[in-house]
Amino acid sequence: MEKFKNYIEKNKDRFLDELFELLKIPSISAISENKSDIRSAANLIKEHLLKLGLNNCEICETKGHPIVYGEKIIDSNIPTVLVYGHYDVQPVDPIELWDKDPFEPYIKKTKIHPEGAIFARGSCDDKGQMFMHVKALEVMLKHDGIPCNVKFMIEGEEEVGSDNLEIFVKNNKEKLSNDIILVSDTGMISKNIPSITTGLRGLSYMEVEITGPNRDLHSGHYGGTVANPINMLSKMIASLHDSNNRITIPGFYDKVLEVTEYERKETSLIPFNLEEFKDSIGINSEYGELGYSTIERQSIRPALDVNGIWGGYIDEGSKTVLPSKAFAKISMRLVPNQNWKEISSLFTKHIKNITPKGVTVKVREHHGGEPYVAPTDTIGFQAASNAYEDVFKLKPFATKDGGSIPIIALFEKELKSKTILMGFGLDSDAIHSPNEHYGVSNFLLGIETISKFYYQFSKLFKTNS
Ligand code: BES
Ligand code: MN
Ligand code: MN
Repeated sequence: MEKFKNYIEKNKDRFLDELFELLKIPSISAISENKSDIRSAANLIKEHLLKLGLNNCEICETKGHPIVYGEKIIDSNIPTVLVYGHYDVQPVDPIELWDKDPFEPYIKKTKIHPEGAIFARGSCDDKGQMFMHVKALEVMLKHDGIPCNVKFMIEGEEEVGSDNLEIFVKNNKEKLSNDIILVSDTGMISKNIPSITTGLRGLSYMEVEITGPNRDLHSGHYGGTVANPINMLSKMIASLHDSNNRITIPGFYDKVLEVTEYERKETSLIPFNLEEFKDSIGINSEYGELGYSTIERQSIRPALDVNGIWGGYIDEGSKTVLPSKAFAKISMRLVPNQNWKEISSLFTKHIKNITPKGVTVKVREHHGGEPYVAPTDTIGFQAASNAYEDVFKLKPFATKDGGSIPIIALFEKELKSKTILMGFGLDSDAIHSPNEHYGVSNFLLGIETISKFYYQFSKLFKTNS
């Protein structure tokens, strides 16, 4: 299938231009001021699907941001692939740490991407990765046509919890019926070592508000006489891990599936260099739960982290003030068989229990989702594995990712189908961070791998039915 590679190479500049047009739209789902940008991004994707000749292309309205849908149903005897991705992006703060405007995409060479990387918010997560699927469709249509029916469902609320997509999926099971779901919204081990993600962690995202005195107080006059909300919150947060770095919330680990020796051995075979890991993020020592390796801590073990903490005086200079309130946003990453609603209520109960005298507490649940595990003994996995091997000349590893895509577990529950996570991002791509980027070659190889997946899948589907 050299012809795919050739076609991609020949059309590379146009593919990049088209992606740049999408990257220029600041479709930040969390910020209400960007509502119309979100819609422009949705419209642009719909235009692309229309141009490729997909049918029933529509912008599906929700209570929040819209979902783009389009399909090409060729034959009821061939398998149907449902492609999922998201066109919304994370906020850009801290904006001052970006080298250039996050919505003015440009290509720059980096150590890891000597051929160049696309710098822009959403370049990797997930516009760039989602757009590979649009271009893979073009590649196939320009050659022998697609060997599978295909349905595209691209949402605008992944970064804020996919609440409305959940409703859409529950209400449109027939429309979305499929044999396999294909998603590129994760990473691979390194540029030359491909991997298929077979696990995602679940998530429970909470906010804690501590209130002390009814107003800010002079920290000299009152200091030492009242419970300071920031002092109290810090104490509470510090107590959420014990000396072995295990989470102290009662019942937190009750349902955690312990890793088998076999799994631990498999995990230890995945290429991972601790020194490189530390160097890549500038830390002098790893940290985490006693008894587990960094890779295990990152994938098959749960975690609890403060994502933001505020209160009191944080502007220039000093102000002697004892704050009335303190806040923290806390995420818990979950593993099979933890249930996010259950964990959220265990968290709430525990936080209320440990709130010291002299302050009051409010706990708010933001959003969450269940973890996901993909089996490797399916034709979907085999097809993906073959496609990677064909392109990268190396069998992909099966890895579990620490991030979350809550809707994937819901797909399985509602649509009864498995998802193949064919991600092409790298840890160094700085998703959610300043200077997010995506390797040009990851983008192009991704398009090629995805195109090949369809042929592999249709072939295996035929021989298995
Ligand atoms: N694409 C990421 C998830 C991801 C990143 C999975 C890297 C595996 C490796 C996704 O867009 C994301 O950021 N998810 C959020 C959860 C969401 C509910 C806000 C996350 O993991 O924090
Ligand atoms: Mn994503
Ligand atoms: Mn994301």
